[in-house]
Amino acid sequence: MRMVDLIEKKRDGKELTTEEINFIVEGYTNGDVPDYQMSAFNMAVFFQDMTERERADLTMAMVNSGETIDLSAIEGVKVDKHSTGGVGDTTTLVLAPLVAALDIPVAKMSGRGLGHTGGTIDKLEAVEGFHVEITKDEFIKLVNESKIAVIGQSGNLTPADKKLYALRDVTATVNSIPLIASSIMSKKIAAGADAIVLDVKTGAGAFMKTPEDAKELAHAMVSIGNNVGRKTMAVISDMSQPLGLAIGNSLEIQEAIDTLKGQGPKDLEELCFALGSQMVFLANKASSLEEAEQKLREVIANGKALEKFKLFLANQGGDASVVDHPERLPQAKFHIEVPAKQDGVVAELVADEIGTAAMLLGAGRATKESEIDLAVGLMLNKKVGDSVKAGESLVTIHSNRENVDDVMAMLYENIRIADHADAPTLVYGTVTE
Ligand code: URA
Ligand code: CA
Repeated sequence: MRMVDLIEKKRDGKELTTEEINFIVEGYTNGDVPDYQMSAFNMAVFFQDMTERERADLTMAMVNSGETIDLSAIEGVKVDKHSTGGVGDTTTLVLAPLVAALDIPVAKMSGRGLGHTGGTIDKLEAVEGFHVEITKDEFIKLVNESKIAVIGQSGNLTPADKKLYALRDVTATVNSIPLIASSIMSKKIAAGADAIVLDVKTGAGAFMKTPEDAKELAHAMVSIGNNVGRKTMAVISDMSQPLGLAIGNSLEIQEAIDTLKGQGPKDLEELCFALGSQMVFLANKASSLEEAEQKLREVIANGKALEKFKLFLANQGGDASVVDHPERLPQAKFHIEVPAKQDGVVAELVADEIGTAAMLLGAGRATKESEIDLAVGLMLNKKVGDSVKAGESLVTIHSNRENVDDVMAMLYENIRIADHADAPTLVYGTVTE
């Protein structure tokens, strides 16, 4: 087989065989296929697309390029949740203990964040002592005993995807549905989940700017998952404005605690129920979505979800007393209000730009090497659809530097106040095939 013939075949819109796709992915991973040929191939896929079968094959070829995690020693259906990424997305921190409180095993492999705020691991490290450097055996033991554990990303998971993603990044081929879908699904499948609930975001803060594009990506991922034997479904949700009120690591831990107590922001709570009930249903712990949601509400009301969060933190070396004493989380030195300049209704909170403002404070990483400041971030005091009076605070900036003129300017530029505005739709629908 020659790579040049396969590039030509895809360029001309023909379907590649499983063998041909394996040849490409294996060759690229071990260096036989050079970057320039792979770039040309990616561009051909960008324009010619891939069939469902090709997408599933590409995904499995990337899964097989490296290590895979075997979770078969964990009893029960392992359901994983994945978000395509957004600003202030606190759902994982809430969902993991919430679902585990219903005896559904949560065996999560997570990473650090780049951009807006930290990843789930960065956020959890806002809790003194918490760590994810545990062995695979400890990880499996913790999940069997406590139903919940988080481990850091293994170094050699889907090396083909790592190499390909870096190449796509510099060759204008990130934004291709077959390439995004196979990239995301390969990582989830390699991490060992039996069932996968996807939260596909749409809006300014997301990859997919419109609900239609998000739905197309969701279909692509759901079809890959189901074609390779993992029960998969997707929820399409809004990311035109940040989710919840908190953006920042310590602040989001606090927000997760509030939500587990039943006192969280309404949108975050609603999305957690939408995703959580799908997880409970896929884990065969409820016979309908309504029953699943009822069960989730019960473990919030009776305190079991919060207890699970404490146990989880303590199991991995964390100071679980922060749950009752959130003031023990890292706190920023300065709290600076951003007053509204006029009366009206908040019409827009541009998610990605507000995320960048939080990053400027140090809540996220501008480059992989940047250090995160766990204490800093933004607390939104108003969301889209809320009315506001001139002088009332729109946002509270939690900062460790006194001068935040740059952040303030960015916030004013990206918060629009109008005469009328409605809160956006939060959940656009679900995709199950
Ligand atoms: N996230 C991924 O992991 N891969 C993509 O291709 C895009 C987003
Ligand atoms: Ca949030």
